[in-house]
Amino acid sequence: MNAEIFDSAAAVLPPQCFELPPTCGLILGSGWSETLECERTLVSLPYAAIPGLGASTVVGHTGEFRLFEQHGLRVAAFLGRRHWYEGAGWEPVVMPVELLRRMDTKNLLITNAAGGVNPALKPGDLMAISDHINTVGLNPLVGPVRPGWGARFPDQSHVYDPAMRKHLRRAADEIGAALSEGIYAFTAGPVYETPAEIRAYASMGADAVGMSTVPEVTLASAVGMRVAGLSCITNMAAGISGPHLSHDEVIKQTRRTAPTMAALVSTFLALIAAEITEQL
Ligand code: HPA
Repeated sequence: MNAEIFDSAAAVLPPQCFELPPTCGLILGSGWSETLECERTLVSLPYAAIPGLGASTVVGHTGEFRLFEQHGLRVAAFLGRRHWYEGAGWEPVVMPVELLRRMDTKNLLITNAAGGVNPALKPGDLMAISDHINTVGLNPLVGPVRPGWGARFPDQSHVYDPAMRKHLRRAADEIGAALSEGIYAFTAGPVYETPAEIRAYASMGADAVGMSTVPEVTLASAVGMRVAGLSCITNMAAGISGPHLSHDEVIKQTRRTAPTMAALVSTFLALIAAEITEQL
């Protein structure tokens, strides 16, 4: 890992990003960026302007960093993500988490599009991630211990914070949306899974499958952030239903679900704002 690239990236962020810790960070996956509501934008930077982050190569990933205010909160959002399968190493994948850490952000909501493994799920459902299975066997903490990146052997018992999950559940109740809860299996991609793999992941306890999120969550939880994960189920996984899988269908489904996604994220941020106010 080229840790110097993180210094170069932090150096291009305007001072506003560091003057007050953003209360919440957002990393928005396939189809989620378009749903973001911002009351007042303070900073907007294309990924291409941030060394080591670079433009996403995937359709549906906007590629913009935005610092904004919503419900009186300061929020630092990464609209679009870089993936391990893009082949540029871990640096772009974990860059958002490292920049949020340097901004002293304590809460993180991370979203993705995922295939439904549990047949009780259906396209258009939203799922709060309660735990994950890393089928790749690799993670960005492999390598020397880095200052600020937590313990050598980070505990993984509670990577998704229960209080954050409660906020998601309450937000869903407030907007009248159904929200399931389940286990997300991370695969390397960019290939979709085979039906045999999906049967294996189901027997391991996975409810949904996708090609992202877990690397970022692994670092975020190791550095002590409270993490919430949210999947939009865009299709049933291979072999469960449907003749074939395509990224076009993934994007189409997120567009159909966009109003609920937007309301859920906005209400979740309002609940975080209320939590902070109660603590004052
Ligand atoms: N598999 C992996 N990643 C995905 C899927 C899937 O079925 N749907 C959306 N992202």
